[in-house]
Amino acid sequence: MLKGKHIILGISGGIAAFKSVYLLRLLVKAGAEVQVVITPNGKEFITPVTLSSLSGRPVISEFFTANTGEWHSHVDLGLWADAMIVAPATASTIAKMANGVADNMLITTYLSAKEQVFVAPAMDLDMYRHQSTVRNLNTLHADGVEIIEATSGELASHLIGKGRMAEPEEIVRRMEAWFENEACKPLKGERILITAGPTYENIDPVRFIGNYSSGKMGFALAEEAARRGAEVELVCGPVNLTTTATNIHRTDVRSAAEMLSACEKCWNDCTAAIFCAAVSDYTPETCADTKIKREKLGEMTLKLVKNPDIAATISKNKKDRLCVGFALETDNGMENATDKIIRKNLDWIVLNSLQDKEAGFAKDTNKVTLISKDGRHIPFPAKSKKDVAADILDTVFNKDGRCSQTQ
Ligand code: C5P
Repeated sequence: MLKGKHIILGISGGIAAFKSVYLLRLLVKAGAEVQVVITPNGKEFITPVTLSSLSGRPVISEFFTANTGEWHSHVDLGLWADAMIVAPATASTIAKMANGVADNMLITTYLSAKEQVFVAPAMDLDMYRHQSTVRNLNTLHADGVEIIEATSGELASHLIGKGRMAEPEEIVRRMEAWFENEACKPLKGERILITAGPTYENIDPVRFIGNYSSGKMGFALAEEAARRGAEVELVCGPVNLTTTATNIHRTDVRSAAEMLSACEKCWNDCTAAIFCAAVSDYTPETCADTKIKREKLGEMTLKLVKNPDIAATISKNKKDRLCVGFALETDNGMENATDKIIRKNLDWIVLNSLQDKEAGFAKDTNKVTLISKDGRHIPFPAKSKKDVAADILDTVFNKDGRCSQTQ
């Protein structure tokens, strides 16, 4: 996983710096290109000559090379790197990273790093458990830095406790695992709007027009897209479902009008949309302020007006973005679905039929056919909604799926 990867190895001034030599060797052996950035204190523990010999690159420590005045660009380094590992990370370096105290080359490089950063702390046990260190490590974790925890054992002070830098093999294993996990994130960089669930259209304060949609298909899509690294804007009607992924940004709405307005708010920043919600086609022309009493009203006629078509409205401003709709049909499925692709300016439509016993509202399974605007029909067997979500994302986000779209 590390072959060809550009890694910045940041070394700060702790006795564990001797282990960084082994770490550097392991990284190079694994095929990574390694640029060492060392703090002035780090050089007290390990010589740049050792590090540059092993990495095959001059070691960077100062902002300028003293004799030539050449400036070392931390910005370029940050762009070059696929990952940065700070090992050992002393209490002081951790504190500076957590607070942006950019007084040495290692910290400026950290602040310029665009990709994943790892830290392997190393210090005495009292320093490691001090609330200030704990607080700073929590801050780094919240900032997205992966902390490779120190282990317990005999420390430089001869005290026994937690504070030993993780072994180089363990650090490499954690970095490899991270890259392996990243490779499973083909939707990184996408921001996908997903509508899900029913809408409720109020008749009076206690009654509404709704439908049987559970939201399960839309939520399965949101979870799967998030697992693949996308940021998801999930706009959902009233459902009984929860989401766990931190990259799902959820907006709960009730009516079609609210759903449209929530979609319009985030659509500008999105790269794709999947309209999975079962939006009510009609809404009462007026909503009574107080409960309608049958004793007073006797017979009742409800006047309904058309709701906005969210998919059609959003995809008007589609540009080159991917738009996918759903069609739940009882009859003439193919014909109706194909017609919807054109009317709603979609790239794909996911057709499911209420005639299939595995498809439909509140079920945990679905059976779909994907239809593209360029005339492809791809039928899938009945599967769990999670697996259907995977099939849909595999199909519409693969190269051919995206190639088929036009303005
Ligand atoms: O026209 P029909 O309701 O069958 O179209 C279904 C597709 O259109 C689904 O993708 C659904 O989410 C979307 N839709 C919508 N707004 C509506 C009606 C349907 O976004 N008012």
